[in-house]
Amino acid sequence: MFSSRLDFADTTNALSKARDRRKVAGQPTIDLSDTNPANAGFSWAVADLGTLLRREGIQRQDPDPHGLAVTRTAISDYYTVRGARVPTDRLFISASTSESYSWLFKLLCNPGDEVLVPEPAYPLLEVIAALEGVTLRPYQVVPLAGEWVIDTASLSVTRQTKAIVCINPSNPTGSFVSRRDRDVLRGFAQKHGLAILCDEVFLDYPAEGIASPGTWAGEAQVATFVLSGLSKVALTPQLKLGWIAVAGPIDFAMEACRRLEHIADAFLSVNTPAQLALPDLLRRAEPLRASVRARVAQGDAAVRLWAINSANRCTVLPRASGWSAIVTLPPGVSEEKLLLNAIDEGVWAHPGYFYGMAPITPSLVLSLLTPPDTLSAGLQALDRALQRS
Ligand SMILES: Cc1ncc(COP(=O)(O)O)c(C=O)c1O
Repeated sequence: MFSSRLDFADTTNALSKARDRRKVAGQPTIDLSDTNPANAGFSWAVADLGTLLRREGIQRQDPDPHGLAVTRTAISDYYTVRGARVPTDRLFISASTSESYSWLFKLLCNPGDEVLVPEPAYPLLEVIAALEGVTLRPYQVVPLAGEWVIDTASLSVTRQTKAIVCINPSNPTGSFVSRRDRDVLRGFAQKHGLAILCDEVFLDYPAEGIASPGTWAGEAQVATFVLSGLSKVALTPQLKLGWIAVAGPIDFAMEACRRLEHIADAFLSVNTPAQLALPDLLRRAEPLRASVRARVAQGDAAVRLWAINSANRCTVLPRASGWSAIVTLPPGVSEEKLLLNAIDEGVWAHPGYFYGMAPITPSLVLSLLTPPDTLSAGLQALDRALQRS
């Protein structure tokens, strides 16, 4: 009776079972994987949000497939400040970045077609691709002299390949797409007739002292879609608003927009109150983003100190941006075994394999949004688990 799109949906493994057992037993677990800003204390005041969402216009629906003009003007201004000109008729408002991906897969791919995706990366696309009947073809991004760069030997296409995803900057590695890799991606996309999908949800979170190479939204040469949204830009994942900026040669952009209009029109999924609130949210979000960057910097320093000072022989990879630290484990320690011990010690973090990190360097990914006391207690528990592993 059921579609094979859902065949991936069996998700229990030894780790999730161990976590469930602890939960059922009523024992608390420190969650070092949690990147929900509100859980870490970063949310808008209820009164402010209420005012922004309760305004003239929320009683109506304006069924424009691009989204409300006032919303798109504010997003266009967001890009102007970041050095890119994005006309409002090249913008589409969606309910989330995840939904934007699903629209772009519908736009570009027939069932069975392929999309190139970087590895490691946040495991968002497996499910979205499966639901769209699209196959993912990974290419490798590897650490080299403190940076993450594309392993060009891992880039390959078939006749079914339609697009290539890049994440600028990536989650969890935090690396921006370097100038060299930007040229690699442009050349590769042009040579093979691919569209570039550039996910920039973490663009506004460079680490201190790191100069961001900037947005791709002003791209003129190559068929490009830039994705972002309020969940990271304004720390409001609950408002459900993302967007797509269509960039590249004019003929491509006009045709892409004409077709995207049909997809967006079929769903009209973004709600009016969030669209009307967006201009003020974008205008006022920077102080909240700055406090997130400060928390992340504090967490980063704490994790590095922990790795240096304790006998655990872990190392922390360089981080150019984002909200996560990648901790590589001492030789011989397996992610799975360590995490089973960690659950026993009352702490949880994501294993590197969850993000497709190379198995030769077992690692953990820690959320640097974690409040300082919780992070400190979690790192102590991880030390105990490491000693047992
Ligand atoms: C790189 C990246 N893109 C997109 C998303 C999802 O964004 P949204 O909440 O807008 O769907 C995430 C979630 O953490 C992410 O890490």
